[in-house]
Amino acid sequence: MCGIVGFTGAEQAAPILLEGLRRLEYRGYDSAGLAVENGGRITVVKASVPVTKEDSSLITLTRRTDDGKNVPGTCGISHTRWATHGAPTDYNSHPHMSCDGRFAIVHNGIIENYVTLRQELVEKGYEFASETDSEVVAHLLEMYYEGDFKAAVMKTVARLEGAYALGIVCSEHPGTLYAVRMASPLILGAGKGENFFASDVTALVSHTRNVIYLEDGEFACLTPESITVYAPDGAEVEKQISVVEWDVETASKGGYEHFMLKEIMEQPKAIKNAIDPRLKGSEIVFEDMSLTDEDIKNIDRIIITACGSASYAGQVGRYVIEKLCRIPVSVELASELRYSDPIITDRTLLIVISQSGETADTKAALEECKARGAKVLGIINVVGSSIARLCNDVLYNWAGPEIAVATTKGYTTQVALLYMFAVYAAKVRGTIDREEYATCVDAIKALPEQAQRAVDINPDVAKTAKKYYDQEHIFFIGRNIDYAVSLEGSLKLKEISYLHSEAYPAGELKHGPIALINDGRLVVALCCYDELFDKMLSNIKEVRARGARVLAVAAEGDDRVLSEADDVIRVPAAHELFGAIGEVVPLQLFAYYVARENGCSIDKPKNLAKSVTVE
Ligand code: AGP
Repeated sequence: MCGIVGFTGAEQAAPILLEGLRRLEYRGYDSAGLAVENGGRITVVKASVPVTKEDSSLITLTRRTDDGKNVPGTCGISHTRWATHGAPTDYNSHPHMSCDGRFAIVHNGIIENYVTLRQELVEKGYEFASETDSEVVAHLLEMYYEGDFKAAVMKTVARLEGAYALGIVCSEHPGTLYAVRMASPLILGAGKGENFFASDVTALVSHTRNVIYLEDGEFACLTPESITVYAPDGAEVEKQISVVEWDVETASKGGYEHFMLKEIMEQPKAIKNAIDPRLKGSEIVFEDMSLTDEDIKNIDRIIITACGSASYAGQVGRYVIEKLCRIPVSVELASELRYSDPIITDRTLLIVISQSGETADTKAALEECKARGAKVLGIINVVGSSIARLCNDVLYNWAGPEIAVATTKGYTTQVALLYMFAVYAAKVRGTIDREEYATCVDAIKALPEQAQRAVDINPDVAKTAKKYYDQEHIFFIGRNIDYAVSLEGSLKLKEISYLHSEAYPAGELKHGPIALINDGRLVVALCCYDELFDKMLSNIKEVRARGARVLAVAAEGDDRVLSEADDVIRVPAAHELFGAIGEVVPLQLFAYYVARENGCSIDKPKNLAKSVTVE
């Protein structure tokens, strides 16, 4: 949800800011803008245009500034917006200026008390140029400024409620930036003779891998030579520099037409990165885990909480954990759990899943459950993210940066880690014997190969997509783990191709949704869960009898469904409990090619953002 970048150094700032925004565009792309201080003046340039294959706000901004070349100055801030308060227009785009032209600000998050602040400022004569919540920050800075930049920042921040990562530049303090963090991500980058801040490390890695993570409430003053971090009361805070492992290559397209396709193809490697370091011979080992065997034996309930695809990974995990560990597991959407007055005891384990580690609802649900005594295990991709820092234990995905808004390798590595936890916990609890444990570990070791084979055995998925790309409504059906996977297959399709698609447990169809099945309607039927194959076959017959076309998803070598299917997507043969990854990969490809066929903006689907840091 919005990306911000700041730079101060010896080089011209605008080209560096634009490059940073390019890497953060996945966070929002309703508008883009920058503000650069030069010789006591601030220049602001903005753009807001809808994303098409040829154009975007950032492309327009790049054009307007001639690649940044026509904006002089070596210190500036920039922003890419996912609109919340106010339509996506030039005037609502960041940066926002104070009336006296002294301050420019960029903001990620929501200022919850902006209505009151705005009213107060209007009464004092400040004129607003936008409908945003963010603009109050610029005017508050002007109101409190008496020549001391830091004091004005502190007084302003003291008035704000809500979530905010702020970047601030002041015309009277050349080369100086302030960065503030409260419940929205913000990372500082320490270079040589130049310093940065950004919402995400991907915007920094081409300049520096040395970063400083700010805690909520902390703020920092950046000059080309120094970074000083302060606590909310203004006292200096000693911070550690962390070294990021990602490099520029891992955050670029590497020859693929889209990040999404690149990330689909990277899955075998990403899964390997997630599982290999946790396998010592034939044992699953979670180093540094504070959850003891005694704790695991003591768990009487697991709640998995997450949003979107991460919650669908949780649905796969639910089936596997329940089957292997015999612990009741519920998957709760974080946006619901946080307000549900959850029942938690000291025997509840909360598993929190988030690729970005910044999702606002997930973070709030975690805080709610932790405060009630739950132990928290996170499955998180972004190291050092807000959610990761709140968990008692974290299993990092180690999947590398995921740039496409639609998650692929984030999801499959989440599933792989849930598998590992399920098998590990089952062994500790004694709910599987030595032989079953060894079989499960072998199945986990085979996951990278499973993901690769899922690509290899489906060379015609683009052709299949071409056949069905113009469907208006699509249904995904499955039972048990197949149902869990169908939720993700359906979400993938709808978010990047804008086709209406729904997933149903196959047995539920006749309780309502079957009324929507008519001639030519596409039903994607997942029939890999062998135990319930016959039941699925009956459901397929029911929809076919009503005119549906069936795209079956079936294990390779299993031809039982062929007579009832118009087309088939093949899935590598796998252990019954550990086949979800091989099933979802061809569905990701199907969604990708359907979206491509429809000319959609695949990496940046309309209305979406990668990291949902607002409620
Ligand atoms: C996935 O393709 C989505 N764009 C979305 O559902 C995502 O999984 C969800 O917003 C959760 O994000 P997180 O994993 O970063 O918390």
